Amino acid sequence: MMQRTSSFIFLLLMATFTACTKSEEVKNELVREDTSFIIPAHFPKINYPIDNYYTFARWSLGKKLFYEKALSRTNEVSCGSCHQLAFSMADNEITSKGVEKRLNARNTPSLANIAYHPYFTREGGVPTLEMQALVPIQEHNEFDFNIVEIEARLKSNQGYQQMSNAAYDRPLDYYVIIRALANFQRSLLSGNALYDRYKNGQASLNTSQLNGLNLFLGKANCIACHAGFNFTNYAFQNNGLYQNYKDIGRMRLTNNAFDLGKFKVPSLRNASVTAPYMHDGSMPNLFKVVEHYNNGGQPHPNKSTFIKPLGLSEKEINDLVQFLETLTDYEFLQNKKFTHE
Ligand code: HEC
Ligand code: HEC
Repeated sequence: MMQRTSSFIFLLLMATFTACTKSEEVKNELVREDTSFIIPAHFPKINYPIDNYYTFARWSLGKKLFYEKALSRTNEVSCGSCHQLAFSMADNEITSKGVEKRLNARNTPSLANIAYHPYFTREGGVPTLEMQALVPIQEHNEFDFNIVEIEARLKSNQGYQQMSNAAYDRPLDYYVIIRALANFQRSLLSGNALYDRYKNGQASLNTSQLNGLNLFLGKANCIACHAGFNFTNYAFQNNGLYQNYKDIGRMRLTNNAFDLGKFKVPSLRNASVTAPYMHDGSMPNLFKVVEHYNNGGQPHPNKSTFIKPLGLSEKEINDLVQFLETLTDYEFLQNKKFTHE
């Protein structure tokens, strides 16, 4: 009996010991191999899935795949064709083009700080970043392909096989492809805008920017939805864009009329470089966005009660836009670590 108890304790200790070394490894790798990938001090920690911790090998493979045009049926487009760093991993099209110049149905969202999103796409139908990769791969207007054929196409590529073995200890297959892509995307962290430096006491905002911040928190109450360090509460809201929505938003997923015209609240980080705005790219600039909120939007039974005429003056509209521009992180937008080679 005694014997069994002690060997049980021994096993337990071994398990704890292994767990410790594992997380130590992860931490060391973060520090040692990639100094640009540091979680901003005022950001929460990232929850990595147990089978997809960050390692430099995984990250490198993910980055290569992110810019790999062979993922699309016609070898024309990569993830990076629509998600471009200079535009905060979005682009400046109303809707972007996939294979054979087919137009997407929605405006491309920014991937900055995507590690923190609790679900993906604008209606929130995809539960993990790993699974999200399958959406563009299958989508008729994006890669129009499938993961099995991608696996077959990349099979003969020695470079990929080596990277895959180093990263996940197995040949390149669907398991590896979706995990590596997610591993890379989780490193796309943006937290060094003027606003962050102001919050950390390292910079100051001018009068107009400060006034804009106060409006954001107060009279305009943008904070009701665009809250927290990433300027979104990730809720699904109808912000009064239309009386009749062509894209029904979250109702596509739930089939519930209560969700008609509701979309995931987007982050406002780097918004100054992601024009045009909204799920359909219907607003050309930030002034138009703020004017929309100031007018209270279109009548709709699902419209949030926070969307109502705000009574902002021209100067206040301008101040609010000036504040939104303080959320631009130029260091992130120019970080060569995230671009193609
Ligand atoms: C043709 C343009 C295009 C390509 C190529 C593309 N995307 Fe996207 N991406 C979009 C659009 C548009 C959406 C919004 C989809 C929606 O809401 O239904 C999106 C959404 C996303 C999201 C979810 C963002 C959010 O806020 O929920 C992630 C993550 C993403 N894409 C990653 C990728 C990856 C990884 C690839 C390559 C495997 C890729 N994208 C290829 C246009 C593209
Ligand atoms: C009731 C919640 C809510 C409030 C309050 C709110 N927003 Fe939004 N905001 C949203 C939603 C939802 C979207 C996305 C709508 C869509 O995709 O069509 C959005 C989109 C945006 C966008 C476009 C982002 C992009 O990448 O397309 C900007 C900019 C924006 N809001 C700024 C503001 C400002 C400034 C205020 C305050 C005046 C504000 N919002 C108040 C919910 C809200």
